[in-house]
Amino acid sequence: MTQTDRDAENGRDREKDREKEKEKEKEKEQRGVKRPIVPAAVPEPLQEQIQANFIVVIHPGSRTLRMGRATDTLPISVPHVIARRHKQGGQRHYEDQCLLRDGLNATESNEQRQNGLKMVDQVIWSKKMSNGVRRTPVSAEQARLYNRQIRPAVLDPNSKVNWTNTSHQPEYLVGEEALYVNPADCYSIHWPVCRGHLNIHSGPGGSLTAALADLETIWSHALQKLLEIPLKDLKYYRCILLIPDICNRQHVKEVVNMLLVKMGFSAVVVHQESVCVTFGSGLSSACVVDVGDQKTSVCCVEDGVSHRSSRLCLAYGGSDVTRCFFWLMQRAGFPYRECQLSNKLDCMLLQQLKESFCHLDQDISGLQDHEFRTRFPDSPVLLYQLRLGDEKLQAPMTLFYPAAFGIVGQKMTSLLHRSQGDTEDPHDEHFLLTTQSKQDQSSKATTDRKLFPKPAGFEGESNMCDPSEKGNLAQDLDLGHAQAECLVGGADAEETSSALLSRKTAMTQFEGRALGVDKAILHSIDSCASDETKRKMYSCILLVGGGLLFHGAQEFLQHRILNKMPPSFRCLVENVDVITRPKDMDPRVIAWKGGAVLACLDTTQELWIHQREWQRFGVRMLRERAAFVW
Ligand SMILES: Nc1ncnc2c1ncn2[C@@H]1O[C@H](COP(=O)(O)OP(=O)(O)OP(=O)(O)O)[C@@H](O)[C@H]1O
Ligand SMILES: [Mg+2]
Repeated sequence: MTQTDRDAENGRDREKDREKEKEKEKEKEQRGVKRPIVPAAVPEPLQEQIQANFIVVIHPGSRTLRMGRATDTLPISVPHVIARRHKQGGQRHYEDQCLLRDGLNATESNEQRQNGLKMVDQVIWSKKMSNGVRRTPVSAEQARLYNRQIRPAVLDPNSKVNWTNTSHQPEYLVGEEALYVNPADCYSIHWPVCRGHLNIHSGPGGSLTAALADLETIWSHALQKLLEIPLKDLKYYRCILLIPDICNRQHVKEVVNMLLVKMGFSAVVVHQESVCVTFGSGLSSACVVDVGDQKTSVCCVEDGVSHRSSRLCLAYGGSDVTRCFFWLMQRAGFPYRECQLSNKLDCMLLQQLKESFCHLDQDISGLQDHEFRTRFPDSPVLLYQLRLGDEKLQAPMTLFYPAAFGIVGQKMTSLLHRSQGDTEDPHDEHFLLTTQSKQDQSSKATTDRKLFPKPAGFEGESNMCDPSEKGNLAQDLDLGHAQAECLVGGADAEETSSALLSRKTAMTQFEGRALGVDKAILHSIDSCASDETKRKMYSCILLVGGGLLFHGAQEFLQHRILNKMPPSFRCLVENVDVITRPKDMDPRVIAWKGGAVLACLDTTQELWIHQREWQRFGVRMLRERAAFVW
């Protein structure tokens, strides 16, 4: 028998096997037994090692897109922005705002801001420095007297910074180039991600289709120009997409569709930022606190599982601190008087000033002199002197007293809500919930627990749960979300009725107002089911993202948590450890790094959603394959 004959025979055998399997499936369906829609496919016949350099990890932030091959040491970071050329002449210039947002101009905004700042000041004044001496109080007026009389010095009559050249009328520009498009040119500026979600709004470019088109263009540009991957080769590539812990399922579904169908990746894995953060930092369990540019998320992760009840997302981040710093500097007579929050180059300058000057170090007190330069297109380079005092400490402290942001009438705190269901997924959570019969469920659950013992991964060692098992369990048992998660969610299995109740109470209690970062952490840890988990979380608070990257943040946060944690835990927890630079890495790229680690785990092979599966089964694949409860 020749090799070709053998291959043909093998092929025929496989074909027969498949037929048999199909028949079996049919029989089972007729008997009412649900199976996962597709077994986790490891492409046959080669169960070859997936090459990590053919996996692209994408971490889309509200401000920065981070992307790279899983084999890269660091991702590329691109401002997540696009400038689109106007379709018709005379179209009005439109720009998504970087630092301005809704809710700042309400009648109560100013009062709320002042009250928030008063609280910040009280804390600053009441706390002694590490040498036991009280801080020298400085008023904004003292700095103002000096700053008011400052005039800039011209360092160079020509900044040599140019507006982006648009003479060849490109249809779009991405990243830095988009930021430097002259507002007088016929382009509109869009940031397609806002506070962790697709930036959907009623203005130009605010539709779901437009936001997705912007994402696709930016990502395609980054792949081609920065990672040098031709789009036609994407069929050889796979993609790991990092999503926020509290995500908009509809948005995730659309983005996955874009990656697989429009861009043509061969397969996709979707995973949560917080879990990836633990992978990236090499910690098995942590309370992950991600302070980004526009959102802050807190979540307790244990052995690769993010506890649902502990997830919290706050609608503020580094950009709100920047805006607050600007107000404070204005109060202190900021000498660059033309500075405008509506001008994106001014916003970039303000972000830089915040990053260079602000701190959370109680020991820095009194007035200090600083200088900064403005370097804009068509302008001279100007040097300004600037005297500042407590403004530099007050601004970052607003993350702990978010009333000081002066945002009124906006939803500031989000907790995890039950899925509303998806019309494309006949077995979505909604269906499972409405069809479940309690009796049926408990009897089935008992049988099935015997049939499907807890997979090994749940016991703590492995990072991933086995998604195919999960699919089996969730579907076979016909469970609703909470019950399904009890079985599949590892430590979440212990989510007791009291934890569920406290989540419900928290929802009504918190959603209307903004919790400070420290309170959000305490709430998140308190929502964990067992004291043992809570103890673990207090001992390992992992701070990532760029928003709290201030000098002194680690000690500051540690001090606040120690002071505020329930006394019963103070004796249980040996040390409240706040980690800001795990493995000495930049906290802004740790989640991305975790995505790259995920790409190389054996267990990940079962999480891939392949293009053809997606085309056939759509969103059901997310529920089947995601390593978390979709
Ligand atoms: N050295 C620094 N000191 C203080 N803040 C910093 C520093 N570096 C960056 N930031 C701030 O971090 C924020 C960006 O953080 P990050 O890159 O984590 O955001 P993102 O992931 O794009 O946004 P999000 O998580 O909100 O979707 C910006 O507000 C930036 O000013
Ligand atoms: Mg982020």
